[in-house]
Amino acid sequence: MSAVIMSGKEVSEAILAQNLEDAKELKAKGIIPKLAIMRVGDDPGSISYEKSIIKRMANTEIEVESVCFPLEVTQKEFVSKLKSVNEDKSIHSILIFKPLPAQLDEEEIKYIINPAKDPDALNPTNLGKLMIQDETGFFPCTAEGVMELFKYYKIDVKGKDVTIINNSNVLGKPLAIMLTNEFATVSICHVFTKSVKDYTLKSDIVVTACGIYSLLTPDMLNDNAIVVDVAMAQKKNASGEFVLDENGKKIRTGDAREDCAEKAKMITSATPGLGGGTGPITTALLGSHVIKAAKLLSGVK
Ligand SMILES: NC(=O)c1ccc[n+]([C@@H]2O[C@H](COP(=O)([O-])OP(=O)(O)OC[C@H]3O[C@@H](n4cnc5c(N)ncnc54)[C@H](O)[C@@H]3O)[C@@H](O)[C@H]2O)c1
Repeated sequence: MSAVIMSGKEVSEAILAQNLEDAKELKAKGIIPKLAIMRVGDDPGSISYEKSIIKRMANTEIEVESVCFPLEVTQKEFVSKLKSVNEDKSIHSILIFKPLPAQLDEEEIKYIINPAKDPDALNPTNLGKLMIQDETGFFPCTAEGVMELFKYYKIDVKGKDVTIINNSNVLGKPLAIMLTNEFATVSICHVFTKSVKDYTLKSDIVVTACGIYSLLTPDMLNDNAIVVDVAMAQKKNASGEFVLDENGKKIRTGDAREDCAEKAKMITSATPGLGGGTGPITTALLGSHVIKAAKLLSGVK
């Protein structure tokens, strides 16, 4: 059997088209949705992610302001700037790039970011709103992206057995809540799970996000499995060495090995040939959240 390949990019394009329409409507009412990105240091990966966000947002008429700090920024300086961005009426959302350097205390920062301007649910208020299905909240973009993928491909999760291989606050836990809200039966596996395969083999849907190429192999799946691989990893060989492409560059993958497509019914993964994974949906939803915040903060329906 050869799986139907699901395209995260296709899902993201539908979301971006809606964002553009919504942003134009807001513009007609004199509101320009605006995101502030707070970045510490000059990590090339973060800079390239920031550039891709700016480009995508510009295409949907969302403004972005980069607020950059030197690597040695103090907690006091960071918090003071965060508070002023919280107060800035022209800014509707604030995305804080992680990881933060050791001298910054994320435990304090996450309570300071205004929950109404918190598009990726850093502030625990938003995770609480997810628990009680309060739609004024913001839910983590990557987890919500998996639900958008199900919606786009008309995958009804009600009554389905779902295994999520990830127990983080940005993915496994919020996604488990979203799925149970839709009446799926959810198991969460993690690094200390005795046998992940025991769970995945029984599951209608497997969501994996570990960042380990080849963590998911066909023998772990049943014939009807739907696989959503959220991970961003790099290909390694059996000895744990990076596999390089013809230009000497590391090969980007997800957790799923290529041959999972021979067993699964549907799949998306960043592993080459498997549809690209969910990364583009995450960024598109970030834009949706900026627009939602702009509407809520300005009292526009
Ligand atoms: N697609 C996107 O938009 C997007 C966004 C954010 C993160 N990611 C990717 O998702 C992955 C997870 O991100 P995160 O922030 O949750 O990372 P994390 O390090 O917090 O979580 C990793 C998870 O993998 C589990 N794990 C590790 N080894 C395991 C093993 N051998 N067996 C079972 N479980 C194992 C851990 O217990 C943990 O739950 C990363 O690859 C990251 O790059 C993708």
